[in-house]
Amino acid sequence: MCGIVGAISKDRNILPILITGLKNLEYRGYDSAGIAYLRNNKVTIKKITGKVSKLESKLNKNDNSHLGIAHTRWATHGKANAINAHPHRYKHITIVHNGIIENFKELKDMLEKENYIFKSSTDSEVAAALLNYYYEKYNDIEKTIKEFMNKAIGSYAIGMIVDNDKDNLYAIKKESPLIIGISNNTIMLSSDIRAILKYTNKYYILDDYEYAKINYNNAIIKNKTGKQINKELKEYKNEDTTNSKGKYKHFMLKEIMEQKETILKTALPFIEDGINSLLIMPDLTKYKEIAIVGCGTAYHAGLVAKYLFTELTNTRCNVYLASEYRYQNNFLSKDTLTIFISQSGETADTIAAIKLVKSKGCPTLGIINVEESSMTFLVDKCLYTKAGSEIAVASTKAYTAQVTILSLLVLSHAYRNKNISKEKVLEIIDEFKNIKTLITPLLNNKEIYLAIAKDIYKEEDIFYIGRGLDYALSMEGALKLKEISYIHSESYAAGELKHGTISLIRKNTPVLCSATNERLNAKTISNLKEVLARGAKVYLITDEKIKDDNITIINIKKTSDFIKSLLVIIPYQLIAYYTAALRGTDIDKPKNLAKSVTVE
Ligand code: G6P
Repeated sequence: MCGIVGAISKDRNILPILITGLKNLEYRGYDSAGIAYLRNNKVTIKKITGKVSKLESKLNKNDNSHLGIAHTRWATHGKANAINAHPHRYKHITIVHNGIIENFKELKDMLEKENYIFKSSTDSEVAAALLNYYYEKYNDIEKTIKEFMNKAIGSYAIGMIVDNDKDNLYAIKKESPLIIGISNNTIMLSSDIRAILKYTNKYYILDDYEYAKINYNNAIIKNKTGKQINKELKEYKNEDTTNSKGKYKHFMLKEIMEQKETILKTALPFIEDGINSLLIMPDLTKYKEIAIVGCGTAYHAGLVAKYLFTELTNTRCNVYLASEYRYQNNFLSKDTLTIFISQSGETADTIAAIKLVKSKGCPTLGIINVEESSMTFLVDKCLYTKAGSEIAVASTKAYTAQVTILSLLVLSHAYRNKNISKEKVLEIIDEFKNIKTLITPLLNNKEIYLAIAKDIYKEEDIFYIGRGLDYALSMEGALKLKEISYIHSESYAAGELKHGTISLIRKNTPVLCSATNERLNAKTISNLKEVLARGAKVYLITDEKIKDDNITIINIKKTSDFIKSLLVIIPYQLIAYYTAALRGTDIDKPKNLAKSVTVE
């Protein structure tokens, strides 16, 4: 799970292109990085443990090169260290690789019998060696690539330099994304067009089992049989996604604050003209059941929708983790619409789940943030969240944008299903139009979040509880905290505590909770009393008028069910943020995580 970039140019130094590209690809992993480039007609390789900025500082100011490849890594096979970092070189071949060579052990055994010796523990070094093996055998690069494709099982986006062919770069692709960016006298390859937007917005997308021979003024793309493919030259038209933190210390805080705009931006196409706009939402009345699939925060957004579908429209809805869904029996049927939620549109497990549903001829809908990402080409229909580019690894504004789309989808379904009156729908649309006023006071409530953070930041275990919709929100709250503060945090259905977890409550164990459901609040409050009686420190987000000197209370406005999750989650996000800030963690790039998980 990594990001790769490569460039070849007639007249410009490609090193800044590679470094800028890598920095923009760090969302795919950032535990080590490396670069290979031609200097005095020789391949020079530099690799480091750590982030791209460290690699940048290793480059000589006077270095200049017209051809190179580079990589930022999230370790899969082998520790995050400089030996395992890419590029990997085997004799004549130097590569950067994104993906996983699943049969690397078998290939390694085969190559060791041919006296190949390996320095790293990576599958990627085996890929370099295999390419070298065929290159030495056939002395023909295209034949080498074709043989490699026949033999290597798994996923790969590869950028390759061949020692005896210093006028070209090579790209090979299966399953992991790879594009070729075209500009004047300079051609680039990258995992993502957005990484090289500073240099070009024109690009080709490679499909599976395609490879390209790239020199500074053209890219010849061929399929596995060697047939040249005429690709459509695409133009990336969206706003430039190069970002700055502005006045904020972290992207995460900036992105949390941006929610006052992003929720409305996402909702607007479906609310601006009242019911007419709402009915742009796909008609779900023809389906008997809704299935929702996603990973991480996207899965949590799905849980909110499950509550809304089942409680408010009486429609059966189940939510699945993509990594489980892809390997289980899903009783797929054409009467079930499967909705896939993803910020990046590149998550490997979610992509596999889409392919599975499509292979059975069943309908799919995507809720995706990144336009033209891999998933957008796979689903039957796509609804875009308008969160803009989310840089911090911990998702905030993408989550609320997902919840916004899902809530409006359920609202449209409730209206078509006659579960709700027109007047009520119009009231809820007004609540969405008014979202900025509703969440701004919550965003500005820094003192209380900071006070809570000071109370809890030295703790090792924190529990989040809730019932119904509040339980779904507690899961996202707990995820935010553990992702960025590294404090062990778990969420539990409030009623489940006494079946085991309450044994972990000690004096001062923090318990965070939200209670926003009239029908269930009294029961949740009883559960809070139970943990209070055992010494817990309790923090409650609620829209009820509750007064209790033993509980720290954050009040939110009473709204419809369609809106309240967008309010409850703001305190949870900011408590996580300030707690991590007090612990001094790398908030935007927490250890071991990546923004986009492109391996299963
Ligand atoms: C990673 C990210 C999470 C994200 C999850 C799913 O774990 O760190 O923030 O929720 O992947 O990603 P997706 O892009 O599919 O929403």
